[in-house]
Amino acid sequence: MKCMNTDALSRTSARSAQLIAASERNTLDPFTEIDWELPMGDRDYYLPQQWLPLFGTPQWEAMDETQRMIYSRHECASLFSAGIWFENQLMQLVLRHLLEIPVTSPAHRYLLIEVADECRHSSMFGEFIRRADTPTYVPTVDADFEALRHVPGGRALGYLLILAMEEILDAVNRSTMRDESVHPVSRAIAKIHVLEEARHVSFVKTYLAEVWPSLEAEERNAVRSLAPPTVAKVVSLLINPDVFEGLGIEGGLIAAQMNPMYRMQSIVGLAKLTAFLTELCVIDADNVHVWAGYGLVDNV
Ligand SMILES: [Fe+2]
Ligand SMILES: [Fe+2]
Repeated sequence: MKCMNTDALSRTSARSAQLIAASERNTLDPFTEIDWELPMGDRDYYLPQQWLPLFGTPQWEAMDETQRMIYSRHECASLFSAGIWFENQLMQLVLRHLLEIPVTSPAHRYLLIEVADECRHSSMFGEFIRRADTPTYVPTVDADFEALRHVPGGRALGYLLILAMEEILDAVNRSTMRDESVHPVSRAIAKIHVLEEARHVSFVKTYLAEVWPSLEAEERNAVRSLAPPTVAKVVSLLINPDVFEGLGIEGGLIAAQMNPMYRMQSIVGLAKLTAFLTELCVIDADNVHVWAGYGLVDNV
């Protein structure tokens, strides 16, 4: 793998300086911004209905509204535990990257800010789970970013996965913060996450766009072939079988995995990622069918 000197990445450096300034202007502490004392009962949704994996399935139709609201609280806790798992993986990748970036580079300082953001986000997600009266769901998917270190183009692939999760969570968060049927604590969490993740997305897009053309052909080929299955794995973190088992929803896992409405929702949630990767030619006419086969873009 090429050892990039991020100081040589002038666009990434310039963007980092802007993002440092934006972070100084607007960074929020979830423990002062959110009213954690609001009770989390059974009379609100905790995620927008269209983002619930069972939405529209026979299992969904069989629930009354209270059961749907309870189910949504469990899905929200499961989503946030996937968020914590993912942010942990992200931070490990970023911290390793920091060892190679000159400490005088704006990218070094910005990535430290990003890690600090993720520490607050994971604490915020954890606080929701602590108060939501649900089990502490743990993602069961075997997807470890650690293994990516050793493949050609592994760092670029790692950042690509970061972007995938950040974009899909951004889509969920944006509809959550606007949905008046959703509990105020969920909406406040979503609002903070949207604000701060927009900067992370901006960094990773600038970095990938600048690094991609400088990779060796072998590295680009490895990223192109590994990206669809690994993005699919990351996306599959959003459905946790323990939710259905714990709530006694028979056939829930299969129904969620096969749910055409949820599958379409995921494709929409990934649309900004796949448009960006198409611009970069990571996705092109030769491999778009592979992405479609994994349910990551609409059928081509
Ligand atoms: Fe985050
Ligand atoms: Fe992030």
